Amino acid sequence: MALCAVAGAAGAPQSRAADEDGRRCMSAAECLERMTLAELAGQLTQVQNIHLKDPADLARYGIGAMLSGGERGGPGGSTGGSAAQWARMVEGYQRAAMRSRLGVPLLYGVDAVHGLGNVQGAVLFPHHIGMGATRDAALVRRAERVTRDEVLGAGMRWAFSPCVCVPRDPRWGRTYEGYGETPAIVGPLGAAAVHGLQGHRLGPHSVLATAKHFVGDGGTAFGTGNAARGYLLDQGDTRVGDAELRAVHLPPFARAVDAGVGSVMATYSSVRGAKVHGERRLVTGVLKEELGFGGFVVSDYAAIQQLPGDGFAAQVESAVNAGIDMIMVPDDYRGTVGAIVAGVEQGRIPRARVEDAARRILLVKERMDLFRHPYGDRRLTAEVGSARHRAVAREAVRASQVLLKNDGVLPLPRRGRYRIVVGGNGADDLGRQLGGWSYRWQGQLGRHTEGTTFRQALEAAVRGTGIEVAGSGRGDVAIWVGGEAPYAEGHGDVSDLALGEENARELREVCSRAEKCVALLYSGRPLEIGQELARADAFVAAWLPGTEGAGLTDALFGAGYGGRLPVTWPLGGGGVLPVGYGLRPY
Ligand code: GLC
Repeated sequence: MALCAVAGAAGAPQSRAADEDGRRCMSAAECLERMTLAELAGQLTQVQNIHLKDPADLARYGIGAMLSGGERGGPGGSTGGSAAQWARMVEGYQRAAMRSRLGVPLLYGVDAVHGLGNVQGAVLFPHHIGMGATRDAALVRRAERVTRDEVLGAGMRWAFSPCVCVPRDPRWGRTYEGYGETPAIVGPLGAAAVHGLQGHRLGPHSVLATAKHFVGDGGTAFGTGNAARGYLLDQGDTRVGDAELRAVHLPPFARAVDAGVGSVMATYSSVRGAKVHGERRLVTGVLKEELGFGGFVVSDYAAIQQLPGDGFAAQVESAVNAGIDMIMVPDDYRGTVGAIVAGVEQGRIPRARVEDAARRILLVKERMDLFRHPYGDRRLTAEVGSARHRAVAREAVRASQVLLKNDGVLPLPRRGRYRIVVGGNGADDLGRQLGGWSYRWQGQLGRHTEGTTFRQALEAAVRGTGIEVAGSGRGDVAIWVGGEAPYAEGHGDVSDLALGEENARELREVCSRAEKCVALLYSGRPLEIGQELARADAFVAAWLPGTEGAGLTDALFGAGYGGRLPVTWPLGGGGVLPVGYGLRPY
């Protein structure tokens, strides 16, 4: 079945299977042959939808790519929006872009880091740290295939995922975007994610994947974060030698390249004081020449503005000369095109470098068959949020749960006359179980999309069983659900891993209402829970499970706990639970 919109399909935009008026270039080679320097520079430029001054600029400058960021990514700079609304928005941009002299389609990218977080109604999976707890590459591939279909259904063909970072300090706010603290965990799952999004090779059914952030972002030293933003680790300095960089942080990129990943995003962070975005030794020498990466390297959001240099044009030149192929500006696209053209004309950027970057970008577009199929797939729009997709996420939630303690209270009897009292700040808050990159960049408490909270799942699970669920009073079993409020990137950097007094107090209060107590912790990282582990009769690391809360209750009522720690879990006072720890009582 042709996935991309074809002439005549219901609601599908008219994408011309071939160039009818001889205007458009239809292959990388033909485009490169005909492109002017300014058009080559346009291909290297990515603009964020909210910063597009005039849709006609897409054709005027031959812009190669656009993005919706984590915030206000929807139609007209809105937050949220349905898949159909997003598809209409993106198709409009694509039609405008293809009015350029050579009609080259643009790539439209979005962060789909645990499903299509910006789009309301999309299915959101456990964040990567939870998927890492499954150790299940086949499940990761199936999950990313669902995400691929939802990205296509929302009209897009590029996801800035998977993050194949290797988080080494859980105080980092992006710990949950990593699958685990070792390359042995991250590598296979990152490769599986690439296959889920792209298929076994790029083609008309693909969503372009992005291995990010090259290289070493998970190894930054505490206290070296971007001080201007108040970050403690994020965008900081990875102070390791090449031996550790190659042993820990590089292997997942090698696995992603071997899996055929079409794009790599550079990291904001530095290696031994040198910003990676300006490091030709790493971006060109290691990634392209040593690992043989044949796709394109995209800068991170406004990252080149962090490079040393006398003004924006100098930063553009530095990044392009280092091997950055596409500049995620995301705003001054006119200045970016101008800087590249001037850099070449004045001899500061070799024309061959710009041609190589454009070639990489155009070859990815050709391999995705974007010239003939420039749109997503309206046939999949109705599948966004479908029961079939949610079932995959529910399975992933259950498989991600790590049972840290069980004094015999689990599994809970599926039937019988007993009373469960449930409480805690996460018991009925969808936003807390989603985490960051959900509806908004930083996430948002409350209900802003479709999904099942823990409380809703529990009430559904006990319906007709004789079990009673209450939010107050005493019970036979108490269940506390709570944890971190949502965050993303450096905004989640912390100086310690304390659970926090609110959570500790709520857990004590809820557990005081029954003889037996079960604790479920929503967190993007391990937190120090020594006292709470002692207080509860069972304790589950639930991570940030996403929209399908029923996966949590499936495990509680006997479907079993399959998860194993993907990170070392400090208990406070020097105790730890090691990577790989996880009880399997049934
Ligand atoms: C962010 C992140 C990156 C994301 C990009 C676009 O700052 O570092 O992971 O893909 O911007 O939203």
